[in-house]
Amino acid sequence: MLKIISTSDGSDTLYVQELDEHYHSTFGAVKESNHVFIESGYKSISSNPVRIFELGFGTGLNTFLTLLESLKDKRMVYYVSIEKYPLPANIYKKLNYSTLYRENEGSYYNLIHECSWGIPREITDNFSLLKIEKDFMEMDTDMVFDIVYFDAFAPEKQPEMWSYNVLELVASLMNPGGVFVTYSAKGQLKRDLKQLGFLVENPAGPPGKRQITRAVKKS
Ligand SMILES: C[S@@+](CC[C@H](N)C(=O)[O-])C[C@H]1O[C@@H](n2cnc3c(N)ncnc32)[C@H](O)[C@@H]1O
Repeated sequence: MLKIISTSDGSDTLYVQELDEHYHSTFGAVKESNHVFIESGYKSISSNPVRIFELGFGTGLNTFLTLLESLKDKRMVYYVSIEKYPLPANIYKKLNYSTLYRENEGSYYNLIHECSWGIPREITDNFSLLKIEKDFMEMDTDMVFDIVYFDAFAPEKQPEMWSYNVLELVASLMNPGGVFVTYSAKGQLKRDLKQLGFLVENPAGPPGKRQITRAVKKS
């Protein structure tokens, strides 16, 4: 069962009762997403076009915030997001993300959700979105990416998504020099990324989290 709750910065998130887990930090969903994925991921490289892969489309918050950023810097963004369990409309329509921005920006939130799964869609002149409804474990593609937003549920709740094999699959989807970002800074994750040929950094985290992980795939 999913429950909508308000986080400390006023933005909503979802609580998953079965996992006893939230989609975002309760210290601020938008704050966390901006800190981890936009600041340490999107803004940390200047590739243009930039190809982004997200593991876990979920509420679409990372997608939405990346699109808003692309309106400012005008980079061409090709964004691919995979999700095993897409949210029903009666849930995502109740989340308050679009109301936190000016109307012309907020309206992109619904557009992101309303576009079909499995078909690339140009949401703006410089933001193309492909949502894939699939289990990442079955991902089979020859696409490669400059940035990976790794946003599975926490290692304690969903350990299989943080296994060496899954990280190896992620690494195989990345260009040399590509950036992997996630909100976790677990020791095992850092060791596995190093073994897979990444340079691993641990920038300071958003409120409630000491560190996050940013890793660059070596050339
Ligand atoms: C922490 S939530 C974050 C979602 C999203 N990035 C957001 O901002 O709302 C994790 C998401 O990963 C999805 N997920 C979990 N396991 C998956 C898998 N094997 N393949 C694809 N998606 C998965 C979940 O359904 C959930 O939507």
